[in-house]
Amino acid sequence: MKRREFIIQSGTVLTAAALISTFSGLPTHAEAAQAGKPTRRPDPNAFAQPIMKAIAWGVNAPSPHNTQSWKFAILGDLTMLLYVDEQVLLPATDPPSRQIHLGAGCFIETLALAATTMGYETTVEMFPEGYESDQDFGRKPVAHLALRESTATPDPLATYITVRQTNRQVYSGPRITLSEFAELTRLAGRGHAEVVFKHESLDPFLAMFYEGLDVESRTFRTNEETRKLFRFTEQQMAEKGNGLSLGQMGYSGIMKAIVTRAVNYGDPKKWHSVRSIDASMKKMKKGIDSTKGIVFWITPTNTYLDWVQTGRDYARFALALTSQDLYAHPYNQAIQEYDEMKPLRDRLNEIMQIVNPQKIQMVIRIGRGQVPFYSYRRQTFNIKDSKTSKLTQQP
Ligand SMILES: Cc1cc2nc3c(=O)[nH]c(=O)nc-3n(C[C@H](O)[C@H](O)[C@H](O)COP(=O)(O)O)c2cc1C
Repeated sequence: MKRREFIIQSGTVLTAAALISTFSGLPTHAEAAQAGKPTRRPDPNAFAQPIMKAIAWGVNAPSPHNTQSWKFAILGDLTMLLYVDEQVLLPATDPPSRQIHLGAGCFIETLALAATTMGYETTVEMFPEGYESDQDFGRKPVAHLALRESTATPDPLATYITVRQTNRQVYSGPRITLSEFAELTRLAGRGHAEVVFKHESLDPFLAMFYEGLDVESRTFRTNEETRKLFRFTEQQMAEKGNGLSLGQMGYSGIMKAIVTRAVNYGDPKKWHSVRSIDASMKKMKKGIDSTKGIVFWITPTNTYLDWVQTGRDYARFALALTSQDLYAHPYNQAIQEYDEMKPLRDRLNEIMQIVNPQKIQMVIRIGRGQVPFYSYRRQTFNIKDSKTSKLTQQP
């Protein structure tokens, strides 16, 4: 693929078409390329403009349901605005779009870490135009990001940006120790939220993981939201570049083929059948039961800033886990803000002694495991022209 260069002056409109031709078909992740698999992530080396290079790194960040709800306005070679993409929200499982904003934080931190390997430090100005209500989602920026040349050494966490993966499989080996956790927090560095670790008496939490997933799976509209984001063939995954798949859920080989047939490539009747849900719960329970530690992120308030900053914390912690050959599997169902989840949410808050306006922002199980399926990223993102505020639509 021919190397393309983007020299974008301040205020210039970057069309989605430009991004499409650049983001598509580029060999990126060495493993994927070597295995002859379709390209799954954008290649930062395909860009000359530092901010575009940094974005191409940033999109490796984790995001809820792999939505990648990120929208960009390129202001110059070194500056940009980040928005959430209001067309890509999770209204059923994430009614306030809290997790979507954690995903924005993950993007910011991943970009900033990557920039250190490019010889830049990143100044992040949060909510430069204010942020008052959901009316501002996608209309006002979450952050203004500015790269500045720096002689500082690259952040070691950046090494793991393309290697980090969510792992929903069964974990093996011993429980994570307090000293291992201390090392993880040291590597991740001081963040915004309080980080709480559990490695003993896990049973009540594991039961809540199970119950939360059960509620999500048996509530039609939340299970339907996941179905719509599920990709069954490699072609679907490559075309959409977002969402979840059986591979990401830990299925492989013959089991993957059997389950694909059982749910008939996401046929609604099969997907929502008691039989399919029971089988999926049985599989997920094995993973839950193999948990080697649980980590919570808790904030004293529950503001937009708390959401984005906790996302930044999580991105760093996930990379610290990768550096120690450990994995994360978020289990956020029990903290989600829809009515059917309220009894469980209340119980978890009670056990954790969380009192309004405190909020558990993120919960993960951690442990050691086999390398999971490598997830895709979108090849096109909506670009917001900062001059006219007109959105360039993704095709
Ligand atoms: C804020 C946030 C919440 C998430 N919640 C869950 C969750 O509840 N369950 C889950 O299995 N994965 C969850 N994930 C993981 C994403 O599904 C995952 O990051 C995405 O599919 C991309 O895959 P990757 O992390 O392997 O790159 C969450 C990720 C983020 C950033």
